[in-house]
Amino acid sequence: MTKRKWWQDAIIYEIYPRSYVDSNNDGIGDLMGIVSKLDYLQTLGINALWLCPVYETPNVDSGYDVADYYKIAKDLGTMKHMELLIEEAHKRDIKIIMELVANHTSNKHYWFINALNKGRYRDFYIWKKGKNNGELPNNWMSSKTGKSVWTKPKTDDEYYLHLYTEAQPDLNWSNRELRTEIYSIMKFWLNKGVDGFRMDVINKIAKAEGLPDVPTNTPFLYGEMYFENYPDVHRYLKEMYEEVLVHYPDCLAMGQTSGVSPEQAYAYTNPSLKELNLFLQFEHVNIDYGKEGKKLEFLPKEFYDSIMKWQTGIDNKLNNTVFLGSHDLPRTVSHYGNVSDYLKESATMLATFQLLLKGTQVIYYGEEIGMTNVNYVDINDYIDTRSRSTYDYRINVCKDKVVDVEQDLRALARDNARYPMQWNNSTFSGFSSVKPWMKNCNNYEQINVECQLEDNYSVLKYYKWLISFKKTNATFNIGKIFPINDKLPEGIYGYRRVYNNINYSIICNFEATTVDFADETHQVSSLYGVEIDSNYIKLGLVSKLNKIKPYEVKIYKK
Ligand code: GLC
Ligand code: CA
Repeated sequence: MTKRKWWQDAIIYEIYPRSYVDSNNDGIGDLMGIVSKLDYLQTLGINALWLCPVYETPNVDSGYDVADYYKIAKDLGTMKHMELLIEEAHKRDIKIIMELVANHTSNKHYWFINALNKGRYRDFYIWKKGKNNGELPNNWMSSKTGKSVWTKPKTDDEYYLHLYTEAQPDLNWSNRELRTEIYSIMKFWLNKGVDGFRMDVINKIAKAEGLPDVPTNTPFLYGEMYFENYPDVHRYLKEMYEEVLVHYPDCLAMGQTSGVSPEQAYAYTNPSLKELNLFLQFEHVNIDYGKEGKKLEFLPKEFYDSIMKWQTGIDNKLNNTVFLGSHDLPRTVSHYGNVSDYLKESATMLATFQLLLKGTQVIYYGEEIGMTNVNYVDINDYIDTRSRSTYDYRINVCKDKVVDVEQDLRALARDNARYPMQWNNSTFSGFSSVKPWMKNCNNYEQINVECQLEDNYSVLKYYKWLISFKKTNATFNIGKIFPINDKLPEGIYGYRRVYNNINYSIICNFEATTVDFADETHQVSSLYGVEIDSNYIKLGLVSKLNKIKPYEVKIYKK
């Protein structure tokens, strides 16, 4: 058997640096703050940190608008701090994964400023003249802002392309010089010791030649067919592999690849094709996202079916990356669990459901204590660029009712995932001693690390146990996975992990009702074996052998 790569069995912990810990009390989280929590992270048992962008940036889109790939954002610290973070993390066996935001730069990057002045970097970006009758170059729209992807600077006769905000001009990957620059940036950071990249919207770097119109003017055809998974992307990724990745065999290349099918995901990550190691797909987290940011009902069955489709896809050959939350999503327990009545139960059930699935695991900061959606009272406290543009678009263009738009925003806003980490119950949640750059959530007195460390029945203690349980049972790393298709009561979903005659069954209740699992317990035991654990037992709650309580998860072994 070929040796497994470190990331195959890893649990990656994603950090949004501005909101983790503020070490110098200016209200903004920073790199030294992260350094100060490495011991905490080591005891939690995670293997790697994925840092949302830490590069110099005007912060229009939270650092996903890079102004200088060779500098650390002033708010976050210095290059020395970054080097120290890498060194201190490595001492604790924690790897560091950085963002590679290479589909676009900030409009404040010197390449773009030079391009605006028609200098030598003009062709690093994508320029096109409008159509003869004064129309835009084509009909593509940004699915995120509902606006055209084209902007014409006042001083110009051409428009530039931006799939995201106009402050994020797209780079022209068909330009060999640009590609060489990107590869140099990667080598620079790898030589500093980083262990991998999460490649932001990497499946959008190739655009169709001629930038044609989307054939019909259907409002929801945004042009993805011409810029998402467009065939040239494979040519670029193979080149990146040859020029960079092959020289750093332990480097993790994890691509953000929205809108892929299992076949396309395999085309990116099949090891013999030498492109990426891991892909991030969003089908399961997007099932309750309607058009234009409308919140749809969450249906556990749809969610489960989607997860299982990917877990077993391509004859079980996909290297899945498993995550439920991220900096772009609502908080996991608010999204899929039950915050009002079963916060601990649902947070731990979801954690178990997730972490015992097959693949590389990613957890998002704060999930380990059950942090919830932020629920700001004042709608103006939702400050993320996407929250604001969705809001304006729905009110002004779609003419939706304000109450509906506000309700959906509260449910789905990215702000939900970006507010300060809750370390303790002091003012500003122990994140900083001054008012944070983004308002705290009002539940930090109840939900915080310090109180959960003192409580043996906390979500945090459960995560620690669960992480070590996963790590010490090879079945969860290398075992096969099988969906459980037996006739389970409504709301109950499960799967089996099997390796060397060891057979674990994970049975989860996604609803707030208690159900009879079987009248005759021996039926259950012949199917699943012995019940070895339940989140209820670990949380100090009463669990019954023949019943599954609200949001309970039971683990069986045979
Ligand atoms: C990705 C990031 C998101 C960002 C966008 C543009 O989707 O996850 O946060 O806004 O790319 O870079
Ligand atoms: Ca700071």
